[in-house]
Amino acid sequence: MINVIITDSNNSSKELLYSYVNNIEGVENVFCYNDLNSIDCDIKNIDIVIFDVSSKTVLETMVIVDELKNKYKNLNFIATSYEINSELVSKVLKQNVCEFILKPVIPNILAGTIKKITDNKKDLPKKKAKTICVFSNKGGSGKTSTAVNMAYEIASQTNEKVCLLDLSFNFGDIATCLDVEPKHTVLSVTKKLEHSDIDLAYTLCEKYRDTSLYVLSFQDDTGLNTKFVTPDLITKLINSLKNIFDYIVIDTLSVIDEASVSIFSTSDLIVLIGMLNLVSIRNCQKCLELFENMGISQSRVKLVLNRYIENSEIKPDDVKETTGVDIFQKIPNNYLTLIDAINLGHAVSEINPHSNIAKAYQNLAREIVNVDYMNLEDLKQYNHGIFNLLRRMGE
Ligand SMILES: Nc1ncnc2c1ncn2[C@@H]1O[C@H](COP(=O)(O)OP(=O)(O)OP(=O)(O)O)[C@@H](O)[C@H]1O
Ligand SMILES: [Mg+2]
Repeated sequence: MINVIITDSNNSSKELLYSYVNNIEGVENVFCYNDLNSIDCDIKNIDIVIFDVSSKTVLETMVIVDELKNKYKNLNFIATSYEINSELVSKVLKQNVCEFILKPVIPNILAGTIKKITDNKKDLPKKKAKTICVFSNKGGSGKTSTAVNMAYEIASQTNEKVCLLDLSFNFGDIATCLDVEPKHTVLSVTKKLEHSDIDLAYTLCEKYRDTSLYVLSFQDDTGLNTKFVTPDLITKLINSLKNIFDYIVIDTLSVIDEASVSIFSTSDLIVLIGMLNLVSIRNCQKCLELFENMGISQSRVKLVLNRYIENSEIKPDDVKETTGVDIFQKIPNNYLTLIDAINLGHAVSEINPHSNIAKAYQNLAREIVNVDYMNLEDLKQYNHGIFNLLRRMGE
């Protein structure tokens, strides 16, 4: 969908341009004015401005073009003129913002120029955050601790913008762990997102100290308000954050429902947390089966063993044999170091960077950053029978 403004002081040339532009595939709206000063439509929604220029008017015209370009970064300009003297053309092209077409305009040339502009736009690298959710279908297995510390490590290793998104609705655990003050409630955020667009989400996040980590958690994550958090809203929230951040790490609830399915399907990776005990391993196994039935490819699920103890009776190899997947990382059992960091409102690495648990979080983040995101298998067709399956598995 392309929206175009044509400005030309000559009526017949303006009408001719209008008929050409209107016939170009993908063009949605065309607005015509006599000159750049008299534009009065909403320029925010415009992609291309075609304007007329001559040697006499080139200086003042280019000042206006410059101003518009500075104000509306995505605006593209096509200058048209009957003159082809090199001085005029070089003034127009100098700012590197304009295409130039000699009049009388040939329809194919105009269409080709518009296509070139729109193709270039498509090629612009858009920020699409790599999104990692941390999940376990067993409460208390270490989702929040892993999400917080992994997000912190990704930010400090890459210096890229990382969003730690608290969708665990657990009375603000994440905010407590990092000692940030959430300013918004689930209700206010969801209301704002319903009525506005993309960039808003950024203003809702709290920057974590002097890092590139941002936290989005909520003031009153009680059951009372989570009923407003529909799967659609979750998808909208995550997708809007994806346009701004390089990474998103999501802390989740230990339930599989429509809301968590919407988190899985918008995530590149699911870090599945398990522990070396029979109950946890059996839960991981169920979870992996469920993911498979949902069409989530195994390459997108990374099994992390938390609270790992070397001489435990159950070995990582047993887990691999039972679940059929490799262990991605092991986080050692180190309650005292972790709880110290939590009580001080810091990531473990900030308090005790050489502890075994800090090193494990650092390694986990490194491995997560090194995943080949471009070649992850897509989510296959989402399986709508999943909730029946879930019920059967619970029986
Ligand atoms: N590697 C670890 N070593 C020692 N203790 C840990 C480790 N990871 C987590 N814990 C402890 O286990 C408890 C639960 O951890 P955490 O809150 O991260 O789990 P959770 O999965 O987010 O829980 P919930 O389901 O309630 O949200 C906490 O007391 C935490 O300090
Ligand atoms: Mg938690």
